Amino acid sequence: MSTKVLVTGGSGYIGSHTLVDLIENGYEVISVDNNSRSTIGMLEGVEKITGEKIKNYKVDLCNFEETRAIFEENPNIKGVIHFAAYKAVGESVENPLLYFHNNMQSLINVLQCIEEFEIENFVFSSSCTVYGNPDKIPVTEETPRKQAESPYGLTKQMGEQMIEAFAASNKKVNSILLRYFNPAGAHASALIGELPIDRPQNLTPVITQTAIGKIPQLTVFGNDYSTRDGSCIRDMIHVCDLAHAHTLALNYLFAQKNKTNCEVFNIGSGDGITVLESIQAFEETTGKKLNYVIGARRPGDVIAIYANNDKARAELGWIPKYNIKDIMKSAWNWELYIEKMPTHLQLPTKRLN
Ligand code: UD1
Repeated sequence: MSTKVLVTGGSGYIGSHTLVDLIENGYEVISVDNNSRSTIGMLEGVEKITGEKIKNYKVDLCNFEETRAIFEENPNIKGVIHFAAYKAVGESVENPLLYFHNNMQSLINVLQCIEEFEIENFVFSSSCTVYGNPDKIPVTEETPRKQAESPYGLTKQMGEQMIEAFAASNKKVNSILLRYFNPAGAHASALIGELPIDRPQNLTPVITQTAIGKIPQLTVFGNDYSTRDGSCIRDMIHVCDLAHAHTLALNYLFAQKNKTNCEVFNIGSGDGITVLESIQAFEETTGKKLNYVIGARRPGDVIAIYANNDKARAELGWIPKYNIKDIMKSAWNWELYIEKMPTHLQLPTKRLN
């Protein structure tokens, strides 16, 4: 009998890659996704890759009764991975209440069900955004959380703190907070990947959409920072490496290797790469010249951040396999696939709230 895991946000970018990794490692999965920011095309992709039919509940996790009904219908859920959340930094600045409501209410409802149905293992999608603009890099898990740079970042900080408080009150539940750095790239099959709504904000989809001609020109937000080439430094982590960290986190919890009932892990490559170096890596691997200009700094951008990932390596046995070139190559293959994707699987061009 395989172990059943509930994945919220299974149609999302990281969620879909994690479903694949979990299935490939022997877990049974069910997904909850109302497709408010995703398409059923991702689950179709997961099904094609794995050859498994995915059960998805099209439920808004802010609706407690409907969320509870999923747990009631599946009494043998042994672990929960909670991805479902809004994640657009700019949108969160424009509409903070939407972010506070959606990201916090859904988390509260999931935790309430975990408590009521006595589920002992929980993994939460956190982000390096909780470090704000760090004083020292690379950041370790002990680096203090500084002021959040956006309401989105604040929801990740509040989420972590809510889970910490919950863990202090409920010793039966073991939680892991995974702090992702900058997820990028796509599955090698190019059947799943990142599907931005509207115009993308994140660097990698902006790069691939510029290369394919959907965006006329890429703007590098600032080349006058105190970094080796003046552009910001990030830690790009291949989404398949990131997905595998979730499987390992669950394995770790199921093997009862956790030291406390709420542990934090940085999930980043450990390498800092500048924006200009990322562009160069794309050009080198794909042979495509990018049309880019240097523009003004983007407000709220952290200057430089990358992970110390020693803890994930030592405790979870996590070893990232892919480099920046793999990331860019797979992201480009995915962009080429999106071009051919049937329109009913494409995302709406406007957000649905
Ligand atoms: C942000 C969040 C991160 C979140 C992610 C998801 C912060 C500090 N980080 O990452 O937690 O998971 O969004 O959406 O809140 N860039 C350009 N031109 C572009 C696009 C980006 O130069 O057209 C640069 C940015 O200035 C930045 C780097 O590329 O220096 C990475 O940007 P982006 O991909 O948006 O990610 P973050 O802002 O690091």
